[in-house]
Amino acid sequence: MRISPGEFVEKAVEGLREELPAGRAVVACSGGVDSTVCAVLAQRAFGDRACAVFLDTGFMRAGEAEAVRRALGSLGIPLEVVPCSSRFFSALAGVTDPEEKRRRFRDAFYATLAEILAAKGAQALVQGTIAADVQETQAGVKTHHNVLDLMPNIWTNVRILEPLRPLLKPEVRELARHLGLPEDFVERRPFPGPGLAIRVIGEVTPARVELLRQATRIVEEETADLSAFQAFPVLLAEKATGVREGKRCYGSVLVLRLVRSRDALSAEALPLPWERLEALVARLLRELPTITRVLYDLTPKPPATIEWE
Ligand code: XMP
Repeated sequence: MRISPGEFVEKAVEGLREELPAGRAVVACSGGVDSTVCAVLAQRAFGDRACAVFLDTGFMRAGEAEAVRRALGSLGIPLEVVPCSSRFFSALAGVTDPEEKRRRFRDAFYATLAEILAAKGAQALVQGTIAADVQETQAGVKTHHNVLDLMPNIWTNVRILEPLRPLLKPEVRELARHLGLPEDFVERRPFPGPGLAIRVIGEVTPARVELLRQATRIVEEETADLSAFQAFPVLLAEKATGVREGKRCYGSVLVLRLVRSRDALSAEALPLPWERLEALVARLLRELPTITRVLYDLTPKPPATIEWE
């Protein structure tokens, strides 16, 4: 950021008011630092004219909606949680192709948001698009990444406000700190919009998402003290033979993806002490009896991406 966080906030608030001098705005909150900062900026710009919403797609982490509600509440911003998991599970039912999954998620996501805007009589959508999202969308790396530029048709009467578009992640964190966001939110690891749906490789079913949700909770608890850019498990579509209680069984396979990165544009595997890895794997196998194998992903980005889908 070439200007100070204070100046940026002032300009952003002014810019938002210019773009929407009257009428209502909806802020799409995901719980990430980007959209949380946007919610604060929108509140400063619009006051009661802005309303923060969180779509509970069913692909969120354990306790996510409540955590986001608490964090925004501590900043004096009420959050409306919109339960819509059956819509999202239906939209993705039977789909295994990663790009098709993202497209279906994206369509359900923005269709739901459009309905919310219409119901609230809102004329603007505020979202936390940052520079990396724009770059990766334009480069074709992403299909669902705040991609409204690519789908203008459903938004003919809605203004899209993206105050963080020029910023990179470290700058957003600086801004978040300046705005007084809770420190755990400032340093929150990124979590993709489509959530666990793109970390369940293959078909997304409630049971598979629930298994990954439990694995995610364990991995996050066990890695909370590490300075990882992201640390999460992925559930593979393939199964692997294992032995449980002396009997052969055919269980699920998890991949651990722990990376360091500055801005998500490149990344490398986090070097973990062997004992930490062993302890993490042991806990996953102890608490999740349907898992028979856990792998550690050593691949840097590029050529891999951080997510598996
Ligand atoms: P990749 O996997 O492309 O991810 O290396 C780069 C960063 O973006 C996050 N990510 C997403 N975020 N919608 C999002 O909002 C998505 O579809 C999506 N895919 C990846 C990823 O977690 C990483 O931080």
